[in-house]
Amino acid sequence: MIGAVLGMQFGDEGKGKITDFLGDKFQVAVRFNGGNNAGHTVVVDGRKYKFRLMSSGALRSETVVLGNGMVIDPFALIEEIANLRDSKCKAEIKISKMAHVVTPMHKILDLKEEEVRSKLSLGTTAQGIGPTYEDKYARTGIRMTDLQNLEIVREKIETIFKMKQSLLSESEYNDPAAREKMASDLFEAGKRLEPYMEYTEVTIRRLYESGKSILFEGAQATMLDIDFGMYPFVTSSNALAGALSLGAGFPFRKVDYVIGVVKAYMSKVGAGPFPTELEGAEADRLREIGQEYGTATGRPRRVGWLDLPMLKYSIKMNDADALALTRLDTLGELDKIMVCTSYKRDGKELDYIPRSFKELEDLKLTFREMKSWGKLDAETIRKHDFDALPMEMKDYVSLIEKELNIPVDIVSLGEGRENTILRKGSRLSLLK
Ligand code: GDP
Ligand code: IMO
Ligand code: MG
Repeated sequence: MIGAVLGMQFGDEGKGKITDFLGDKFQVAVRFNGGNNAGHTVVVDGRKYKFRLMSSGALRSETVVLGNGMVIDPFALIEEIANLRDSKCKAEIKISKMAHVVTPMHKILDLKEEEVRSKLSLGTTAQGIGPTYEDKYARTGIRMTDLQNLEIVREKIETIFKMKQSLLSESEYNDPAAREKMASDLFEAGKRLEPYMEYTEVTIRRLYESGKSILFEGAQATMLDIDFGMYPFVTSSNALAGALSLGAGFPFRKVDYVIGVVKAYMSKVGAGPFPTELEGAEADRLREIGQEYGTATGRPRRVGWLDLPMLKYSIKMNDADALALTRLDTLGELDKIMVCTSYKRDGKELDYIPRSFKELEDLKLTFREMKSWGKLDAETIRKHDFDALPMEMKDYVSLIEKELNIPVDIVSLGEGRENTILRKGSRLSLLK
């Protein structure tokens, strides 16, 4: 089977958890977009794993691929691989020669660009992601394969420096010696990563033709997609399902199953429009119950009510077959639960998601109140039986399925791998 796991909201829906949960069905795990702006958490037997560049499928798959659409900080990757090996992960690692390299200079540029944006700053993860994609499209970027050649690394660093000199003039990289040191550090890192580098689109194709099952794990989410998200408050790459074709070199037509991961409420890090955002004490309470702090940056996440119009859009844009609904345990701890059911402007219901500042200002939301199901007890979770869950929770799941016309195949009731229910009879449970 060929599957894809994608975020349907603003990121941090629990893609890592779901990718790991499905890991026993897949032999190959592939990342195809973003870099270590992603932070994907997996909890197994009480132990927490944080994936930034590697796929969260790494603990259970035979092979992990980092596709060409990614931007990779080689130093962070070396550290992540070492940590994984300490955790007894035996998966073979394949890194695309054509993925782009994030250098320390790109991280400085990320901060500087945020300063220049001023009021329109997005609150990036400061990992150098945006500037690295800029260089990719300016055709000045450093690719993983370039790290084998010190002269090329030097040359490209000089080109990037010249293009962005005005932003770098006060940084340490204004000094040629610092640029030379960076070039040689990158070259050394390249030597360590060289054994993993391949033309991974060819590798994936070979694995596919030999009958291996493959799971593509998206980073970020629809509303952070550079084209279809809440631009400019988005990341610098595409995050929709279709991005896997170009970011891994695998035809989307061959994907059998797209799973949209949805948090039972909403969260967002960074700036920008967030129609169902909660404020004040209610927001603080949800943030504390859910410990909603960024995996990548530790920043407090903004929180809000589930947004069905937004999900309708995301499901269509990703052509999702089913949803995995996470954090139902967290939401149940609130006494009052609201769900946004429609967007209106000038009294008319919208069948699209406005993404211009003007349209967003005039937006009116309609909410529906749902009954809370309270704190779940461990016994109920351990049963792994959807039917045995509280009626109010099942009503919440039914509302989502009915309003969005899509099955919820996976229900997640805690951070641990074991706190997850794959619904009996769901198409996903039947797929081999
Ligand atoms: P990702 O970026 O989509 O992989 O999500 P993150 O890992 O950044 O954030 C999701 C957070 O929610 C992590 O801390 C997960 O351990 C946690 N999580 C995922 N699913 C559940 C769930 O059903 N219940 C609870 N309580 N936590 C969950
Ligand atoms: P995962 O894969 C949540 C947000 C940042 C910022 C904007 C741009 O864990 O869901 P960037 O560093 O990409 O230039 O930042 O995008 N952002 C994320 N928010 N989860 C993520 O990834 C994110 N990756 C980027 O907070 O608002
Ligand atoms: Mg995350």
